[in-house]
Amino acid sequence: MPAKRAAPSGLPVVIIGAGLAGLTVALHLAEERPVIVLAKRNLDEAATAWAQGGIVGVLGSDDSVESHVRDTQDAGAGLVDENTARFIAEHSARAVEWLVERGVPFSPDPEGPLGLHLTREGGHAVRRIAHAADATGKAIHEALLAQARAHPNITMRERWMAVDLVTSRHLRRNETPRCYGVYALDIDGQRVETLAASAVVLATGGAGKVYRYTTNPDTATGDGIAMAWRAGCRVANMEFIQFHPTCLYHPQERSFLITEAMRGEGGLLKLPDGTRFMPAHDERAELAPRDIVARAIDFEMKKHGLDFVHLDATHLGEAFLKEHFPTIHARCLKLGIDIARQPIPVVPAAHYTCGGVVSDLLGRSDLPGLYAVGETSYTGLHGANRLASNSLLECVVLGRTCAKEIARVDGALPAELPAWDESQVEDADEQVVISHNWDELRLVMWNYVGIVRTTKRLERALHRIKLLQDEIDDYYANFRVTRDLLELRNLVGCAKLIVRSALRRHESRGLHYSRDFPETLPVSFPTVLTRTARRRPDSV
Ligand code: FAD
Ligand code: SIN
Repeated sequence: MPAKRAAPSGLPVVIIGAGLAGLTVALHLAEERPVIVLAKRNLDEAATAWAQGGIVGVLGSDDSVESHVRDTQDAGAGLVDENTARFIAEHSARAVEWLVERGVPFSPDPEGPLGLHLTREGGHAVRRIAHAADATGKAIHEALLAQARAHPNITMRERWMAVDLVTSRHLRRNETPRCYGVYALDIDGQRVETLAASAVVLATGGAGKVYRYTTNPDTATGDGIAMAWRAGCRVANMEFIQFHPTCLYHPQERSFLITEAMRGEGGLLKLPDGTRFMPAHDERAELAPRDIVARAIDFEMKKHGLDFVHLDATHLGEAFLKEHFPTIHARCLKLGIDIARQPIPVVPAAHYTCGGVVSDLLGRSDLPGLYAVGETSYTGLHGANRLASNSLLECVVLGRTCAKEIARVDGALPAELPAWDESQVEDADEQVVISHNWDELRLVMWNYVGIVRTTKRLERALHRIKLLQDEIDDYYANFRVTRDLLELRNLVGCAKLIVRSALRRHESRGLHYSRDFPETLPVSFPTVLTRTARRRPDSV
């Protein structure tokens, strides 16, 4: 047993986000540094808690790091950074083991590696997904959250929302730029506090809420990406928004995912007349990577004028479905769909942000003192399309390396940070303006920046986004901040980054398909956006 260390002192590390990325960093770091974790909504609200299929572990005797790297590269359509993919694959077995040690109740198989049952998903050559039935994220999140809450060196601030990063610019110091802390809104206390930090970690998740239909929770408003961009960091590959092929189509349940593992276990995609269509689109049929399956569904829906297609798992039998997919079985039954007897109506919906804040294998962003981990980051792992179940894995592997790096380097020197200035603003007169802009933005993105794109539609979207952004900037400058306003400000910034990136890519690749550029170029690179000083410094 290592000797018990004294409680760490000094400026805290502030981690923005309490999903798998944030909690992994916090739990690894807490022996070395005091840690504050912010979560803008209730602690159980995070994409992590909604994850279904599982987490990749290269564990089986029929598997290898090489095979996982190859599958990640195939799915990523030529834009995966091989070094990143290899590093993460090499650490995947240890990542799953760490979660087991932390008490995550994965589905067992006495004959499986580590005693775990491994399932399969699209794009994977073998079974390599560790899972807790069909509610893997909930099992992981609950286990880690309980430990973070109980840790004496971790302070959880629930319903505290990071507004912006405090950087050298705020200090008006003429020095190498760095991050000194965060302005954070106490949602219930309705005040903004300045939190000085030795380091700040962005672990804020993705930006799925920028689309009208999404599998993502309300937390996914791209806050980390927008904050880092405003602070001068590069952002990459934002055109690659992953649409999950099978979101439940039901008027009362717009964001419920039907896991890819259901296709992995034999579920079939069919037209309402019962005809299978995937074999005509790809030889891997239902197990082709997500971009291909989502595009095929979109094609069939448009061709036949359908609102949805069917995912048929009836042949798997009631007992199997109840054992492997208990959450989906119960939720669908509540909505009047017995998945053992009826096919499930499904549509594609925005699911994962493959791009994000440019960061390295230690989580370092362009700004000293600022780190990014998890869905908010861009590390090159996902390329033009993420392979299923690689996201949770990236959070665990790079959450650990990021914590180690923060513990290794000296943090920021304490500095007198300026307080949040509310002297020029008043309470908003009409909140309805915000909700109208939310609706308009999400509809524009859905209609013009979806699965199939054209240059004309992207330009139209950019025009509308700029108008919305001007209105929102104006609102932000004049009224006291609220969570809705801050989220809208971040979403419109992310929308602009997505469209600008899409307009730059003159080819079709992975998740970006343009009718004007249907070919895939022989050589291609990530889309890296660098901020210029044209807009006001505090806007995206
Ligand atoms: P999240 O888990 O989204 O956590 C973000 C945190 O940041 C939250 O606590 C939020 O409150 C906080 N936050 C955000 N902005 C602010 C702010 N401004 N201030 C303070 N706090 C803030 N991936 C897989 O690998 N396997 C799967 O099976 C799988 N299934 C999925 C199923 C669904 C329905 C969804 C939506 C995603 C799924 N994914 C899956 C993707 C995966 O769940 C996510 O990519 C991953 O959990 C992201 O973790 P994260 O820690 O980066 O972000
Ligand atoms: C799913 O269970 O289908 C989601 C898996 C993922 O997003 O990686």
